[in-house]
Amino acid sequence: MKNELKTYVSHMEKYLSGCFDFYDFEPQHVLFDSMRYSLLAGGKRLRPVFAFDFCRMAGGCWPDATPLAAAVEMIHTYSLIHDDLPCLDNDDFRRGSPTNHKVYGEAVAILAGDAMLTAAFGQIANAPGLSDSAKVRAVGYLSHCAGEVGMVGGQVLDILSEERECTEEEILNIQNRKTGALIKAACVLGVLAANGTAEQEYAAMEFADHLGLAFQIRDDMLDVIGDAQKLGKATGVDTEKNTFVRLYGLEKCEELVREHTEAAIDALDVFEDSEFMRELAMSLVGREM
Ligand code: IPE
Ligand code: IPE
Ligand code: MG
Ligand code: MG
Ligand code: MG
Repeated sequence: MKNELKTYVSHMEKYLSGCFDFYDFEPQHVLFDSMRYSLLAGGKRLRPVFAFDFCRMAGGCWPDATPLAAAVEMIHTYSLIHDDLPCLDNDDFRRGSPTNHKVYGEAVAILAGDAMLTAAFGQIANAPGLSDSAKVRAVGYLSHCAGEVGMVGGQVLDILSEERECTEEEILNIQNRKTGALIKAACVLGVLAANGTAEQEYAAMEFADHLGLAFQIRDDMLDVIGDAQKLGKATGVDTEKNTFVRLYGLEKCEELVREHTEAAIDALDVFEDSEFMRELAMSLVGREM
């Protein structure tokens, strides 16, 4: 698994490092600096890996998914820049470095996020090797997952829920939207890049529903038991948040992460060669970063 993972991640790194890099002559070049600062700060690049491997599993040529993978990673990175702002989670460290607003100020950080969100859709529009109909569907699906009913909607629910105790159903809804939705977009866009079948798309959604949940529950556990150095972000900062850790405690959460990961893996049955994705999903159960 390690080799494939390395191949996917370094392919993405190389592609992203070529983005927003030729604008030094522009008077607003601080914007490009700020965008590149967060986009190239590391990060696990999990969403691109999902896009690449779902493309491969669906019978496509995985590098064809590159602009789609980059689009999802750009939206993810913008969501982190905004998530860290003083008016949201007010965090000082991200991906092992000071947060974007700590370096560039709040105004530029907000605008860098805006520009990255916008650029993401340009990536899809200009993707070589994709049919126009695949591009249109990718734009539609990504905008659905990233926007008011997806990630942004989840972030709003997350903020609003700080003032009260939530039910299990409400927490599920927050987590599915704020984290699950973009993971789902990555998996489905991978299938779209391969011109996959409706059955494959459905399996990608089913996988992502469970994996996204397991991923956010583990993220909330790491806020309690994780090591800030390894994570590249502060721990102990989500005590006011409505998470499963707060509702059920760590032990039950460990169980939930395992159960949802197994359910995610079951959804991969429709693919002929899903060995890599199974191993990757299992490796995330006990992840420390
Ligand atoms: C962090 O996502 C935010 C969540 C949705 C939990 P990741 O843990 O994937 O962050 P990076 O991309 O590796 O920095
Ligand atoms: C973030 O959730 C989800 C996003 C849409 C960015 P968190 O607020 O828990 O993410 P971290 O822990 O700051 O990475
Ligand atoms: Mg948050
Ligand atoms: Mg946060
Ligand atoms: Mg968190």
